[in-house]
Amino acid sequence: SQRTLVLLKPDAVRRGLIGEIIGRIERKADWTISALELRTLDRQILEQHYAEHVGRPFYEPLVEFMSSGPVVALVVEGERVIEGVRALTGPTDPIAAAPGSIRGDFGTIVRENLIHASDSEESAERELKIFFPSFA
Ligand code: GTP
Ligand code: MG
Repeated sequence: SQRTLVLLKPDAVRRGLIGEIIGRIERKADWTISALELRTLDRQILEQHYAEHVGRPFYEPLVEFMSSGPVVALVVEGERVIEGVRALTGPTDPIAAAPGSIRGDFGTIVRENLIHASDSEESAERELKIFFPSFA
């Protein structure tokens, strides 16, 4: 089976949506939450996490936002969980996201789009090492 890194972004935590979002993941059959932590991210960890975006015009405001309050970081394990959590999440722009998806139900702003989920096996392994280095 697979593992993926999920972040509930500071907007989700501030708006009291932790339970709502984790509940959607938790209720999927045969997926398991295997690590979970509330934590405020600093620039250094965000630079690693968002390495592909460093230098883009939206990078600085993204880092400001992502360090503006605590996030919930979790590891989810299960069959096809990488594709599966991305499907629950919806596309980056919440206005383009279908109702029924997390971003489609709760988001309006591209930057404040509630949740991050690894987009491939390679990024999942890379991101898991950044957020849970002792997790194996
Ligand atoms: P993540 O799951 O957070 O990685 O989102 P994603 O994979 O849907 O998007 P991507 O990795 O391309 O971008 C990372 C994050 O940067 C997005 O979730 C947005 O919060 C933000 N972002 C991406 N593109 C834009 C953009 O064009 N404008 C703005 N303002 N923010 C962007
Ligand atoms: Mg991404």
